[in-house]
Amino acid sequence: MKVNSIPYRSIWRDDQTIKIIDQTRLPHEFSIVSLESVNDTYHAIHSMQVRGAPLIGATAAYGICLALKHQCDEASLNSAIDYLSSARPTAINLQWALKRMHNRLTANKKIYLTAAFQEADTICNEDISQNKKIGKFGYSYLKHISQKKSGNTVNVLTHCNAGWLATVDWGTALAPIYYAFNEGIDIHVWVDETRPRNQGAALTAWELQNHGVPCTVIVDNAGGHLMQNKLVDVCIVGTDRTVANGDVCNKIGTYLKALAAHDNNIPFLVALPSSTYDNNLQHGRDVPIENRDPHEVSNIRGVTTDNTWSETRIVTNKTQIANPAFDITPAKLITNYITDNGILKSDQLFRLSQVQE
Ligand code: MRU
Repeated sequence: MKVNSIPYRSIWRDDQTIKIIDQTRLPHEFSIVSLESVNDTYHAIHSMQVRGAPLIGATAAYGICLALKHQCDEASLNSAIDYLSSARPTAINLQWALKRMHNRLTANKKIYLTAAFQEADTICNEDISQNKKIGKFGYSYLKHISQKKSGNTVNVLTHCNAGWLATVDWGTALAPIYYAFNEGIDIHVWVDETRPRNQGAALTAWELQNHGVPCTVIVDNAGGHLMQNKLVDVCIVGTDRTVANGDVCNKIGTYLKALAAHDNNIPFLVALPSSTYDNNLQHGRDVPIENRDPHEVSNIRGVTTDNTWSETRIVTNKTQIANPAFDITPAKLITNYITDNGILKSDQLFRLSQVQE
């Protein structure tokens, strides 16, 4: 997608150096960071310079290449896999990408660096083509709503950031929105700010604005009220891991939006590529939920009126804080899954392909 009219991916490679957009600086600063080593890669994932399930996977795949650049053998491959797999626990794409790199690189007797870079490039290219398919399938859904509304504005509510910044390009939940906007559908997006890290306010709104899609940031608690007042036609969210029974793990607060949508008869859609489907787990309750630093809740970071970074503590320094980063939305609250394999029901998710053990 474009930033100031220049097309970007969220991650790309300049020969054997990996480039990322530092998402901790957005929306105030567009800053590009180079990853030169597996340590840089771990840091980028762990500190959330890159985040979002598919992008975490793509970054980890390149992290393997950077490890092999220094020592290209199986011991180095295995230790990089162990190290990177501990960078974040919830999004399955991390384990998915590492498993895929392992399978590809150990298929031959010798480990080749060129094969590693090729596989990581392929993971990125496949992510983009899957997201484009999600965009196209989701567009047909949005077009139908638009037709039912005689061409009046289609209001979509989304949570967190599942746009191009969370993937390699296009996004998952936002891909249908970009597609519909490009096709001339009158569309508007309610963007949940998504406390505590504000991925909605900082990233989703920035992305949509850059593409010219009308959007409005709301506090996380506003969604139910908007739904009761018929100001939301459909909710579309991404996912960090969707398990065999169709339960969806996504950013904390997703579950409450799904409950409100159910109570108000509003379709609740989850967009996901095959890489986010984990058929090894049966129930959402089995997904490891990341508990994040209390500092994210106690302190708010932004820029002052003169555009310098600043941080403010909003509670006393004795206040006890809990910060679970994800929650589980049960399959029964999900109307449909927009996938690269079409628009599916929970009992059709097995159609999504998996990396072989
Ligand atoms: O903690 P984050 O920012 O990595 O969480 C991201 C999300 O929850 C996204 O909604 C999810 O990864 C879907 S990304 C296409």
